[in-house]
Amino acid sequence: MSGRKAAVILLGGVLSVLAGSLLAQPDFGFMPDGGRQTLLRLARSSAIDLEEIARGTGTEDEWKATVAAADPDLSSDAVETLASYLAINMPAQIDTPAAAGFEELAAALPLDGKELAIENCQFCHSFFTGYLAHDRDTEGWRSVFKAPFHKELPMTEKERETFARYSAINMPIPYEKVPEDLRF
Ligand code: HEC
Repeated sequence: MSGRKAAVILLGGVLSVLAGSLLAQPDFGFMPDGGRQTLLRLARSSAIDLEEIARGTGTEDEWKATVAAADPDLSSDAVETLASYLAINMPAQIDTPAAAGFEELAAALPLDGKELAIENCQFCHSFFTGYLAHDRDTEGWRSVFKAPFHKELPMTEKERETFARYSAINMPIPYEKVPEDLRF
């Protein structure tokens, strides 16, 4: 092997290790699943038909009945989280054709409250003191978006509502459940 080729291979290795550590996200498994995650889990185990749900309509109470019947082992918080996600977001605005495969449909579903919090609330201030530690009801979470410094967050009305419902049901996270490197 030429010295130059070896150097290129070495450099490639160093760069990929670097990229891996820069892109490493903390593991957010300590936060309860959002609606989309639970929905896909139920669909993968054939407890529900994803296509039918994605094109359905219902109030939060109607969806609660559907979800609880699909998996009687879900906690009441998980049922409420998924039912609120469905009430706000279904029928989903998806342009995949009716014949689209499961993975296309799954990828086209709107983000859930957990995904929205991770995506939008970590960058200007601590995720812990600005989010995980707050005990608010739905109206309290909606009011976050009234502050001048949050008005411009790039989240649609439906995303704000999905986020507010998820957060009211699932926050705060007890201090000891939050990984140490996020408790600041
Ligand atoms: C563009 C920057 C920015 C982003 C992104 C952001 N915030 Fe903030 N946030 C601020 C600023 C500025 C303050 C006021 C100063 C401070 O407390 O650091 C603040 C304060 C807060 C406070 C305390 C004051 C209050 O309104 O009660 C909470 C709670 C909060 N943010 C929650 C959130 C949540 C939830 C998200 C995600 C939906 C978020 N923030 C995303 C800039 C941001």
